[in-house]
Amino acid sequence: MTYILGIETSCDETAAAVVVDGKTIASNVVASQIDLHAEFGGVFPELASRAHVEAISVVVAQAVRDAGIAYDKLDAIAVTRGPGLVGSLLVGLNFAKGLALAVDRPLLGINHLEGHVYSLWLTEQNRSIEFPALVLIVSGGHTELVLMTGHGEYKRLGGTLDDAAGEAFDKVGRLLGLPFPGGPNIERAAQMGNPATYKFPRAKLDETYDFSFSGLKTAVMRAATVPPSAEARRQRGGDKKAQLRTGVSVNDVAASFQAALVDALVEKTARAAKAHEVTEVMIAGGVSANQALRQAMRRETDLPVRYPPLNLCTDNGAMIAAAGYYRFQAGQRDDWELEVQPMWPLTRSTYAIES
Ligand code: KG4
Ligand code: ZN
Repeated sequence: MTYILGIETSCDETAAAVVVDGKTIASNVVASQIDLHAEFGGVFPELASRAHVEAISVVVAQAVRDAGIAYDKLDAIAVTRGPGLVGSLLVGLNFAKGLALAVDRPLLGINHLEGHVYSLWLTEQNRSIEFPALVLIVSGGHTELVLMTGHGEYKRLGGTLDDAAGEAFDKVGRLLGLPFPGGPNIERAAQMGNPATYKFPRAKLDETYDFSFSGLKTAVMRAATVPPSAEARRQRGGDKKAQLRTGVSVNDVAASFQAALVDALVEKTARAAKAHEVTEVMIAGGVSANQALRQAMRRETDLPVRYPPLNLCTDNGAMIAAAGYYRFQAGQRDDWELEVQPMWPLTRSTYAIES
């Protein structure tokens, strides 16, 4: 059995986990900074790195303890090297280097996006994954449509030209006066709203697999400032209290926004799945927690649709450990010179990873 410790500090969670053979979670500890950043309505980088410094040694020790193993049982230490906030990444990488030296185990630098992809392998107990598979990575910082032809083999089909999907959720959430992070709060508001109230734009961008959410964001902003018609007010159901100063229903805007964003994501993903004859469609990253997205994806494609359990959609150490397992098997060993890579696209692995 191969035990990998995964450490993740790229954004606002300090997380560590031990994963066995790339798929069984022995422990998974996440210290969220949501309360810390809620006050600012977004992630405040300086505060994030300071909070990582305070939390990391406790979080890692807890993960190893929860796994019920001694440090010398670990086969390798995998850590997020990028993309992400430079100060936050540095905390995780430096801690991982120190630990790897102290316990004399190899260090593996992992791409955060590859981590999100491998969160799906933590669901493999149920049904094994066959290539080629299509992965839609939707998080706070990224929206990428990736064709995966083997372990560590990615072909980028498209991505966002402006805001990431999660970023759009967060910005619209702020506009609607909902607490940070916007995603789960918009989802909740949307359940009480009517998605047909506003016909927000779905950027088509012709035959590409790219996305654009800035037009949608502007349309939402405009809708929020225009008082609704008497007819719209009459049709409004549910929570009448959740109103903007203009009398616009927060729930109706949230539902209409979510519907437009989900439509755009699902339409391109379903089309790419057909064009590339994949075996299944996978969704990963924070926004893959969204039930409306999951349902629409299941409805619009005939293929199996896979997504991580809710606690593995947002950032965690288990996904970094899972990705680390395949890298470890492929022979990756990083040295002490390893540096953080705040901007790091998900590209084909430089290591030949055999399945
Ligand atoms: O993957 P993640 O934890 O961090 C990044 O790598 O960015 O994703 C965080 C993002 C946030 O933008 C948050 O609003 C969004 O995921 N999110 C959601 C939901 N839960 C989290 N978006 C829509 N619906 C949700 N239920
Ligand atoms: Zn993430």
